[in-house]
Amino acid sequence: MSGESSAGNIRIFDTTLRDGEQAPGCSMTTGEKLRIAKALSDLNVDIIEAGFPAASPGDFEAVQAIADRNLGPVICGLARCNAGDIEKVHAAVKGADRHRIHVFVATSAIHREYKLKMAKEEIIKSAVGAITMARELCDDVEFSPEDASRTELSYLAEVVSAAIEAGATTVNVPDTVGYTVPAEFDRLFRYLQEHVERIGEITLSVHCHNDLGMAVANSLAAVSAGARQIECTVNGIGERAGNCSLEEVVMAIKTRAEYFGLQTGINTKRLYPTSRLVSSITGMHPPRNKAIVGENAFAHEAGIHQHGMLQHASTYEIMRPEDVGLSKSNLVLGKHSGRHAFRARVTELGFDLDEFETNRAFQEFKKLADKKKDLYDGDIEALIMSAGNTSSGPWTLKSLAVQTHSDEPATATVVLIGEDSVEMSKSAQGEGPIAAAFQALEQATGVEMVLSKFELRSASIGEDAQGEVTVTVEIDGQSFRGRGTSVDIVEAGCRACLEVINRTLRRRQRGESKGDTVRAARANI
Ligand code: KIV
Ligand code: ZN
Repeated sequence: MSGESSAGNIRIFDTTLRDGEQAPGCSMTTGEKLRIAKALSDLNVDIIEAGFPAASPGDFEAVQAIADRNLGPVICGLARCNAGDIEKVHAAVKGADRHRIHVFVATSAIHREYKLKMAKEEIIKSAVGAITMARELCDDVEFSPEDASRTELSYLAEVVSAAIEAGATTVNVPDTVGYTVPAEFDRLFRYLQEHVERIGEITLSVHCHNDLGMAVANSLAAVSAGARQIECTVNGIGERAGNCSLEEVVMAIKTRAEYFGLQTGINTKRLYPTSRLVSSITGMHPPRNKAIVGENAFAHEAGIHQHGMLQHASTYEIMRPEDVGLSKSNLVLGKHSGRHAFRARVTELGFDLDEFETNRAFQEFKKLADKKKDLYDGDIEALIMSAGNTSSGPWTLKSLAVQTHSDEPATATVVLIGEDSVEMSKSAQGEGPIAAAFQALEQATGVEMVLSKFELRSASIGEDAQGEVTVTVEIDGQSFRGRGTSVDIVEAGCRACLEVINRTLRRRQRGESKGDTVRAARANI
């Protein structure tokens, strides 16, 4: 089989920034996407699908910014089978030395009849036309027959053959709606290899969704049946129940190397830091019991397990926490820690800060260390993530005062500083401190919003732990997520809200009205 990556014989195609971003509430700014792209490059993924450039000017800009950094992995963009989309992908990705155009069209009967209203032959014609055009612009072209797992096998083989004839270099087989099961998917991959003559000339790829909780199992079945590229996302984020989880599929191949006889080029020590980065940015935190990166993944509570572990770790541990980048000592720094120690820990946690960002984060660290005796990894991560958010204004929170009494409405006063350094102070009342503070923020900034979700988690341990708040708010009929951190949870909520307000105001300044344009564009496919 062709298509081996330089360091392994399985290519890891990461689509966190494209399919992952399509998860509700996971929209990211260009700056956030760049941070994730850098982390993916440190993780040593083979391909980064950076976005869907035709979806919105913001998407185009993000893909282009990532490609222009030339981070090392192949940079890929998604396109429907039309000239406009393909040209946009090419324009966005061409800055990277190695780039790819990924075109797709649905092939299943249900999509043909109800979504595309196209006959089988028309779909093949459209795919062939798009691949031919993409190949004129780029040597590396991937084709995906969307909803492949629900497509008639003989027709799927026909489509795949036509795609290869037209010049596709990778053919991806998506289980778009997470419908297949491992044995059936194994048959599908074997069928394609038996019925598509030139299949050995291309890289065969797999792309699974997790609607029935089998995305990783189905991807592994495809790999056993000959797929050599796996499409996946960090923490398994993605539409609905998400995509195949990168960390799970990679660690399955590594841990069961004697079974699969395959390897990826992933630097597995970067798995945990990358997972933390993605969850901090998206506000989607993996459940405690999530394999590989969940809080409990390496915790052994039961006495019998602990006893066994003390005798020999391999009694109950099939992977070592260090192999996925989980540090053993969580207690890190304190008031007397210097800049050097701080910087070293920050790098270990997977952040790549420049001089300016390091100085700013170190100042915040010193302020926090005055309030809190012990600083844990979670505190440092929370601090860096929130320092990144507030940097881009127009408003910063100077102070917040809240008065509550169990029998009366709460009163909150916020003082904000604008870009022109002018202070704005507003007070408001509400049922509880959060409602009062949010109303004060609305009045001060003029941005109206409806709070639909308020999620609070502790960034580390102890009663002085920082609270990490993720808010979901509706503005102009669209949903946005923001996050904020503070040892005061009302202030953390205000910071989270202000992050969304700032993003909204910046977007309005740029004249953009749409928030989640990726899903909007996809709805029109
Ligand atoms: O799930 C899917 O079918 C996709 C394709 C565009 C590859 O994401
Ligand atoms: Zn998908």
